[in-house]
Amino acid sequence: MNAIEPLVSVRNLRKEFPIRKGVLSRQVGAVKAVNDVSFDVARGETLGVVGESGCGKTTTGRAILRLIEPTSGEIRFEGRDVRSMGTSELRALRREFGPSMNGMLITFGVREKEEAEEMMGV
Ligand SMILES: Nc1ncnc2c1ncn2[C@@H]1O[C@H](COP(=O)(O)OP(=O)(O)OP(=O)(O)O)[C@@H](O)[C@H]1O
Ligand SMILES: [Mg+2]
Repeated sequence: MNAIEPLVSVRNLRKEFPIRKGVLSRQVGAVKAVNDVSFDVARGETLGVVGESGCGKTTTGRAILRLIEPTSGEIRFEGRDVRSMGTSELRALRREFGPSMNGMLITFGVREKEEAEEMMGV
């Protein structure tokens, strides 16, 4: 890690949830829950995410730690590509960054912070 590298770097993050209908669960559309989100968070910095209900705050938080799979985009923690990590590396990441993600997750709401902590095992 170098001094100017962000702790978290997100580029063009998208998450679409498929809308399925009928007995064959055919995909008839998609909810664009997160549509092209980019930001950097430096170590020690707190990012506040504000927006109306359903605008994608929780989905953004979950997608960053791959608690849900992003549709597309780039996510890096200290330069490490989160989207190419395997299960054990992801588990270590969630454990390592769980505490520092708290500041961010607080902005997603107390209930969701607790949910996320439970999933991250912190
Ligand atoms: N698992 C899911 N399947 C389908 N659609 C989903 C799923 N999770 C979230 N969505 C949809 O994605 C959009 C963003 O939801 P999200 O929960 O991220 O919003 P939010 O900004 O956290 O809202 P709130 O302020 O109410 O917590 C909403 O339209 C929601 O209905
Ligand atoms: Mg939410």
